[in-house]
Amino acid sequence: MKVALGVTGCIAAYKSIEVMRGLQKAGVEVQVVLTRSAAEFVTPLAYESLSGLSVIQDMFRPELNRDIHHISLAQSIDLLAVVPATANILGKMAHGIADDFLSTLYLSNPAPVLIAPAMNVEMWRHAAVRANVETLRGRGHHFVNPESGMLACGVEGEGRLAAVDVIVDRILDVLGGCRDLAGLKVLVTAGPTVEDIDPIRFISNRSSGKMGYAVAQAARERGAEVTLVSGPVTLPVPAGVELVQVRSAAGMAEAVARLFPGTDIVVKAAAVADYRPAEPAGQKVKKGAAPRTITLERTEDILDRLGREKTGQVLVGFAAETENLLENARAKLVGKNLDLVVANDVTRGVFGEDSASVHILGKHGEDVTLRDRSKGAIARRILDLALETRRTRGDQTS
Ligand code: CTP
Repeated sequence: MKVALGVTGCIAAYKSIEVMRGLQKAGVEVQVVLTRSAAEFVTPLAYESLSGLSVIQDMFRPELNRDIHHISLAQSIDLLAVVPATANILGKMAHGIADDFLSTLYLSNPAPVLIAPAMNVEMWRHAAVRANVETLRGRGHHFVNPESGMLACGVEGEGRLAAVDVIVDRILDVLGGCRDLAGLKVLVTAGPTVEDIDPIRFISNRSSGKMGYAVAQAARERGAEVTLVSGPVTLPVPAGVELVQVRSAAGMAEAVARLFPGTDIVVKAAAVADYRPAEPAGQKVKKGAAPRTITLERTEDILDRLGREKTGQVLVGFAAETENLLENARAKLVGKNLDLVVANDVTRGVFGEDSASVHILGKHGEDVTLRDRSKGAIARRILDLALETRRTRGDQTS
């Protein structure tokens, strides 16, 4: 595993030495890239004497960089981490400005990107910085947000670089699953479905799509070819993921049926409507003429069909429950012929949240509990277990 550690110019730059050490202890090869202003705070020698590797500095002074080209470095790394990241580098990355080695490396790098910002609280809150952070998040980059505390400028607030061990853990977490899904096709469904009553009104649910989008992003980062069939949500599409937008349960059923045969792993995180209006009105239903009741009809249970038709695909379903969580989830695992089910207690307000508590139950006795974990971390664990299921089957048949 190799990480390019970009260090930009702020007082927290010295902490990147500890980050480098933590990664090296975990067996990760680290190539440090210092910006010109970072070199005002820390000397290349500090890294070089601890890592035994030369530090990359100025793009336009090749004598400092001993045959290292940004393109060849970009091709050789598993992750680009920018620790600490100043408001300046966030702006350059967000807007594609390439005026030094680090910003040029960023643009030529196909590997995942992790950013740990550090700056003054007012800068961190500034609309320009917020917009840049959103842009970078939208590209699927990982953020280790700054902490609150006493800042170097003497004020209290959010902006202090996250703790070194938190940053190292996140980097290892992202690297952990590196490329182990390469060559596999993963199909993910996400978000709610929308069932029209008339051109104005509809029946839907509270799903935000965050869980499914996190699964799609995690699978893509691990090298899978990912198709995301999504109901209407307002989330950015993870980089490199093919999006198929649908609206209704019928639209989702049609897209999934088409894609299912060539797929290796299916994760059905979507909250699909079980019922739809039997006779949606073509024109707006007027007040006076409004019926008191809407007749509903069943939609197809997409997952149930996949369970009957599967030919080797690993099938992961979700169980959104408000009571008898494990019992209901197990019934879905068996009833829908799933390999894994993710039991989600939705009384705890998981919709739209960035984290959740879930149980992942498997056909072969798997039973994993994850409490208050980010949806990204849950997504990675689901994929670990799905991959494990595939491997176990491979072992059994060989
Ligand atoms: N699901 C599906 N098609 C449907 C309904 C649900 O594919 N028409 C899938 C969901 O994507 C999820 C799983 O089935 O992976 C369970 O969904 P959930 O809403 O928890 O349960 P239901 O099967 O609909 O059963 P119930 O509403 O009775 O709990």
